[in-house]
Amino acid sequence: MAIEIIATGRSVPAHRVTNDELAKKLDTSDEWIRSHTGIGNRHIADDETATSDLAAAASLAALQQLVDRDPSFEGSLPAAAESLDLIVVATATPDFQGFPSTACIIQDKLGAKNAGAMDVMAGCTGFVYALETAAGILSFGKRKRALVVGAEILTRITDWSDRGTCVLFGDGAGAVIVERTDAPMEGTGRRGLIHSILGADGSGAEYLIVRGGGTRNPLKVGEVINNKSCLEMNGRAVYSFAVKAVTETIERLLTDVGVGVEDLARIIPHQANARIVQAAGKRLGIPEEKFYLNIEEYANTSAASIPIAMDELSRAGGLKKGDMILTVGFGAGLTYGGNIIVW
Ligand code: ACO
Repeated sequence: MAIEIIATGRSVPAHRVTNDELAKKLDTSDEWIRSHTGIGNRHIADDETATSDLAAAASLAALQQLVDRDPSFEGSLPAAAESLDLIVVATATPDFQGFPSTACIIQDKLGAKNAGAMDVMAGCTGFVYALETAAGILSFGKRKRALVVGAEILTRITDWSDRGTCVLFGDGAGAVIVERTDAPMEGTGRRGLIHSILGADGSGAEYLIVRGGGTRNPLKVGEVINNKSCLEMNGRAVYSFAVKAVTETIERLLTDVGVGVEDLARIIPHQANARIVQAAGKRLGIPEEKFYLNIEEYANTSAASIPIAMDELSRAGGLKKGDMILTVGFGAGLTYGGNIIVW
């Protein structure tokens, strides 16, 4: 038995904002943002768009790819949606606080009436967690096929007067369809999700936090909206944590699976800061070209960044059947983790 990725999709808002455009409203510059992060642009959702809208668009792109590849659907997108047994959505920016889950809204939008639906919250590591969650659920019982989505509208919880955070984030969604197949999970010819690491260090919860709106600091009737509802970050602390987490997660994944860097076709890291990836690569002696980076175009889209990159890379012909890839993420929680997948 293997859990294989059989289709991918992505959606990013059309509205693209360059560093120079931000610098017109904020004390920053293209030079500072590029040299400190590798970010050149970000895509920002309009006021009418919610996270589930981006997520549904990415999911439809993945379902369309499934329909195009599998003649048994006879071209029917509704039939493909109805073939889903499960929807898992990783997001830290759900349509609604608490409930309903964004996954349920997507389930309705897609007409995936046979699918159970749930959200996973693990900050920027969300997609890594969601993929492993879906794989676990598919690995026993009757469920065969799941949609796993990472989707965020982080620009809506960003303090646009804080130049230390607002330049970092963008909006978007990525989706994959995973299926339980008869392929082997071990030995030669192994396929699909081979291994995952899921880690957390809650003592760093304060380093990336949205203070208002939860049960700790509920929003009160009549209260003026303030920065409590925005993302706060201790950039230096997150940076140190991230370099260590990326380095150690890559090392552990390779050791656990018994492969080397040379066996990997690509590493798809969470796209938070190109310098974090470069620092980890340097420590491990991994050439920069091994990492797939698209942060220049999309900035940090949190849980969406890995599936967006996966879809972009695969549609550009950068992944072929049998390629081994490694994902690695880190983020709010603090959380970290990664997957090894044979495409
Ligand atoms: N433009 C110009 N100057 C800036 C900007 C900006 N946008 N932002 C900060 N600065 C200034 C600071 O004010 C400071 O000035 P000072 O020395 O006069 O006080 C100077 O630049 C250096 O600031 P630092 O915060 O020390 O800059 P640093 O080199 O650490 O880079 C950064 C900041 C890019 C945020 C870095 O710390 C980082 O990438 N941290 C990790 C962030 C991350 O990965 N977040 C993941 C989020 S995951 C999730 O779950 C959402």
